[in-house]
Amino acid sequence: WAVAAPYVAAINRLKKERNAAVLAHNYMTPQIYHGISDVVGDSLALAIEATKVKADVIVQCGVHFMAETSKILNPAKTVLMPDMEAGCSLAESITAEGIAEMRARYPGAPVVSYVNTTAEVKAASDICCTSANAAQIVAAMEGDTVIMTPDKYLAQNVAKQVPHKRIVWWDGRCIVHEKFTAQDLRDFRGWHPDLKIIAHPECPPDVVAEADFAGSTAGILDWVGRERPAQAMLVTECSMAANISDAHPEVEFLGPCNMCPYMKKITLEKVLWSLHTMSGVVEVDPEIAARARVAVQRMIDLSR
Ligand code: 13P
Ligand code: SF4
Repeated sequence: WAVAAPYVAAINRLKKERNAAVLAHNYMTPQIYHGISDVVGDSLALAIEATKVKADVIVQCGVHFMAETSKILNPAKTVLMPDMEAGCSLAESITAEGIAEMRARYPGAPVVSYVNTTAEVKAASDICCTSANAAQIVAAMEGDTVIMTPDKYLAQNVAKQVPHKRIVWWDGRCIVHEKFTAQDLRDFRGWHPDLKIIAHPECPPDVVAEADFAGSTAGILDWVGRERPAQAMLVTECSMAANISDAHPEVEFLGPCNMCPYMKKITLEKVLWSLHTMSGVVEVDPEIAARARVAVQRMIDLSR
């Protein structure tokens, strides 16, 4: 914090000058999460909050698809991405051609795309989902078969929650959550019998099956706040436990965590530079944005 403090102060000053709001994902470093954010949350909350921003500038402390979603939902704002290389293995795993391929393979089936996709993929989809609402969105689709892209494991986890639908999926994976194994979880439970294990649904189904609860990053935070376990293991990105541990001193956070190399591209230095120079402006082709907005807005309306 001693090193971060001058950056935090400078960014907070510049935010006022530029009339900017910082939207930060739960996987940001604690310095960003606690030091400079105006809004923190999971992908769904950040998308909803993006529609309400009054400031002229949105600084997206997250990954590129989140900045695109903010621009799609609030096109009049200048959206800044402090590092344009902050991608996502899921978003990179599928293109609009992949969606067309799935539609050709399963004619008439609705396409539910995870928000972890590019604007082009959203524009080619019928509706979006996040890990907070995926089961609800899939259950609301018409017909027996639903195409879920691009996260194979999220689709397989949702298939268990919505057994009356036939879910077909793309082969995308999150490089952070695919690394956890069911054996990791069993080992930790063996060593700490009272441990509560909370997994993100981007983890493989056998990992989720070993957990006490699975949910989006906001769902994880709610669960910890509600259950207040003495010991908890969050099977997700490392910063999640770091960010919520101050608010929950009664909980001892244990276990392995994996770092998202994309999320960690966002640093205080880069946020400061982006705001100072107004660089890293995210643009989305208006025609693509209009179609992508339909898919994202349908999700928001259905999640209310
Ligand atoms: P949520 O915050 O929506 O659970 O998403 C996690 C994630 O991996 C975002 O990239
Ligand atoms: Fe993408 Fe996984 Fe990183 Fe989230 S944690 S941005 S899903 S690679």
